[in-house]
Amino acid sequence: MSLLKAKFNRRDFLKFLGVNLGLSAFYLSGCNKAIEKLDLSNKFQFKPIEASKLDELILPDGFAYDIIRSWKDPINSTRLFGTSNDFTAFFELDSKTALLWVNHELVDPKLIPDITEQKGSVGGSVIALEKKKNKWQFSQDKKLQDKYNRRYDANSPMKYTGEAAIKLAGGKGTLANCSGGVTPWKTVLSCEENFDYCPDRFGWKNFNREEYGWVVEIDPYDKNKIPMKHTALGRFAHENAAVSSAVDKALVVYMGDDTENEHIYKYVSNSVYKGEKSASHLLQSGKLYVAKLDEKTKTGRWQLLDINETKLKGKFSNQAELLINTRKAAKLLNATELNRPEDIEISPYDGSIFVAQSMNKSKDDLYGSILKIEEKDSNYEALEFKYEHFLIGGEESGLACPDNLCFDNKGNLWVATDVYGIDFYKNGFAFQANNALYVIPLYGDDAGIPKRFASAPKGAEITGPSFSSDYKTLFLSIQHPGEYVDSKWPNNSAVPKSSVVAINLV
Ligand code: FEO
Ligand code: CA
Ligand code: CA
Repeated sequence: MSLLKAKFNRRDFLKFLGVNLGLSAFYLSGCNKAIEKLDLSNKFQFKPIEASKLDELILPDGFAYDIIRSWKDPINSTRLFGTSNDFTAFFELDSKTALLWVNHELVDPKLIPDITEQKGSVGGSVIALEKKKNKWQFSQDKKLQDKYNRRYDANSPMKYTGEAAIKLAGGKGTLANCSGGVTPWKTVLSCEENFDYCPDRFGWKNFNREEYGWVVEIDPYDKNKIPMKHTALGRFAHENAAVSSAVDKALVVYMGDDTENEHIYKYVSNSVYKGEKSASHLLQSGKLYVAKLDEKTKTGRWQLLDINETKLKGKFSNQAELLINTRKAAKLLNATELNRPEDIEISPYDGSIFVAQSMNKSKDDLYGSILKIEEKDSNYEALEFKYEHFLIGGEESGLACPDNLCFDNKGNLWVATDVYGIDFYKNGFAFQANNALYVIPLYGDDAGIPKRFASAPKGAEITGPSFSSDYKTLFLSIQHPGEYVDSKWPNNSAVPKSSVVAINLV
């Protein structure tokens, strides 16, 4: 039976769950940070909500949200918060203040028709937060704002590193910033995804596509540091970057190319991580691999993307050209075509790698799935792995089109969905209704059962889930309310506004 058509079966699923709770001795990032302390003494409890078509962010009884910032809210004396917020990451300053990184992905040309304004609305933001009455909120402290708050957009200066840098000198701006990751030295990896939309859908002129589709490293603490696009990690529609590192081991980064029939990749640094306070050099020199999966044996191999590999010899003039054309090299190696690989995260519970595939209409996969990969000997540098389906999307599992993934410290996987706006309420998606955020317990009697925790306003996606460092606050991006449908979220707004919200979990 084709894996794509495999029916969700809870008994089989539990067989593959294979969680080994309590294992967390290594640094993991991707959601937003290391999960240094797991707390499995109390299960996270809530009464799941029903599917909804309402134009509201709905949460279970006892939970409420506060808006941190909405599109066009000021973040300092000169700049406004960007649009279409996605990845978020929390960086503690002290017990009362913190920084929040926020990606701003793409624009809705109906809301922002002017190209100059479009270019200033994408990229990312750093905003200072402060804790008041036990809640994290946008800080009105002007000193903090002056020191930290800033925007990166399609005009911001960028540097390139790695072998392709020489072909890209003078590049400008970052855009299409979808999801991301965090390094052990507390910088952001912001991922440029659907950059082609800018020239193809929004009509941007003189657009050099080769300058985009990279992983961008930004230091949230230092506004004077110029962001770096690390070309060693390849160029494609980067969804996110899940980092694993341990002292005296190579830094490993897992990445998905979110396009139908594209691939998943792994980067392994040439040098080992020594626990340095800053180790950006590890992202500048390493080996890039693409995955080939064998459906029959449920095993896979990481294939090296290097111009000296037999099948790649003579196909590129140098490694820089290969990195700029990563997809072409992956196809030459017959890498496995996946169903829109979106978020990849490393489980702090057993070290396995979870890969969301949101859907692939070209292969009749309407509802997507989540893969679970186990590297050979639990070694992230291994070239062989085995894999299974952790979850098959659809009515039986209760969720469609998984996109963002995130692990908490209480034994749960959080899954946000991305049903296309044109599919809402029809074409077999009625059971899903609005996009939603689910909690999937990884142990206990309800292991593996998705429970709906949040339902998005009309047309919106819930993206960028991340937690404060004490796990008491959940940050969410409510992205593109009103896409393909009418929405007045939030607060009966004349135009719908993407917004970042905070939810106290305890
Ligand atoms: Fe921007 Fe793959 O979601
Ligand atoms: Ca996404
Ligand atoms: Ca998506």
